[in-house]
Amino acid sequence: MTHRNYSWSEITKILRSGETKGKLTRDDLPTPALMLDLDDFEYNIDKMTRYLRSSNVAIRPHGKTHKCAEIAKVLIRAGAAGSCVAKLSEAEAFADNGVGGLLITTAVIGKHKIERAILLARNHPDTIFCVDDAQNVRDLDEAAGVSGVRLNLAIDLLVGERTGVGCGEPALVLARLIASLAHVTFAGIQAYAGQAAHVAEWEKRRRVSHEAMGKAVETRYLLEKHGINVAIVTGGSTGTYNIDAEINGVTELQPGSFIFMDLAYNSIAGNGSEAFHDFRNSLSVLTTVVSKRGSDTAVVDGGFKAFATDQPMVPVAKNMQGVRYNWGGDEHGILEAIKPSVTLDVGDRVEFMVPHCDPTVNLYDRIFCLRGDDVETVWPITARGMSQ
Ligand SMILES: Cc1ncc(COP(=O)(O)O)c(C=O)c1O
Repeated sequence: MTHRNYSWSEITKILRSGETKGKLTRDDLPTPALMLDLDDFEYNIDKMTRYLRSSNVAIRPHGKTHKCAEIAKVLIRAGAAGSCVAKLSEAEAFADNGVGGLLITTAVIGKHKIERAILLARNHPDTIFCVDDAQNVRDLDEAAGVSGVRLNLAIDLLVGERTGVGCGEPALVLARLIASLAHVTFAGIQAYAGQAAHVAEWEKRRRVSHEAMGKAVETRYLLEKHGINVAIVTGGSTGTYNIDAEINGVTELQPGSFIFMDLAYNSIAGNGSEAFHDFRNSLSVLTTVVSKRGSDTAVVDGGFKAFATDQPMVPVAKNMQGVRYNWGGDEHGILEAIKPSVTLDVGDRVEFMVPHCDPTVNLYDRIFCLRGDDVETVWPITARGMSQ
């Protein structure tokens, strides 16, 4: 196999020319490289959007997974209501790159961040901010009043183990406060039950998610009984998409990982299947064998800096049987040949599925998008590192 080993500036030149076909292939990429199989990515989007459309539930996928404005725009073109983002800085990066319909799923706390939130809302008035604290609501209202801007606020409901105001009465009190203030608008309810997403058995996952989202829907009806219109009830994850979509009163879902998939999601069960393969593994990391020890050990150039390491599982080689990856430090992975179907030589490429997609993507500046072996385009990871 011959590799052209282009430099980044040569790759940029080819991409700028717009003629990548046959000129830039997976074999030319500098490794470790983050790659997206466009056919599988499009399959995933099509499958999820079709399913939710048929369930009459909207989708605002979570951009924390990809942090890539171009991907957010692909999803919006496929029918998404916009993009969820985890943090204000992620929202700013997306907004600056033409992504609308933003829902910031974490509260914006502190004077300086509130000033930035006002600026964002001035230019992107459809942005929704999540809140779970009365003083934060008053601070947002005051800042909005001073600047002559209106802010859309959604109540973050505690249906999981993280943030949120209590379901029922505490949520009603907060919603009433929002409704009573002059410069904020009550947008709805966010209810993210992260504890349900990776429950291994599907039936158990269904029970956990129904319990959590059921409380969100009850809260919705309580607010409506008191004259507060709840336009949005949003939540859910890739693991519960076909559970939450069947719950009456949930209006939109915010799954993220389904576009890429990862080994953590593959390890749970599907509905009627032992492993979760509703969506395809479109995301991978390409590495190169940089050293060899004897006939059964090959060292690749991807370690802790190429893959997120928060999950118990190791990267798994794609399209290759009989090799096991072991962590080899920051820059390396040690490939053990157990029953090799291929002999690995220095310079050979090995492609891996990743243990956890979100934090892996955050390790890269760009994602190479392939159609077959050809690089069709390269997208910047717009909000890489933006966790503020
Ligand atoms: C608030 C919120 N919504 C949605 C998601 C999407 O979950 P997943 O990537 O499991 O689909 C996450 C993921 O952590 C999240 O934090």
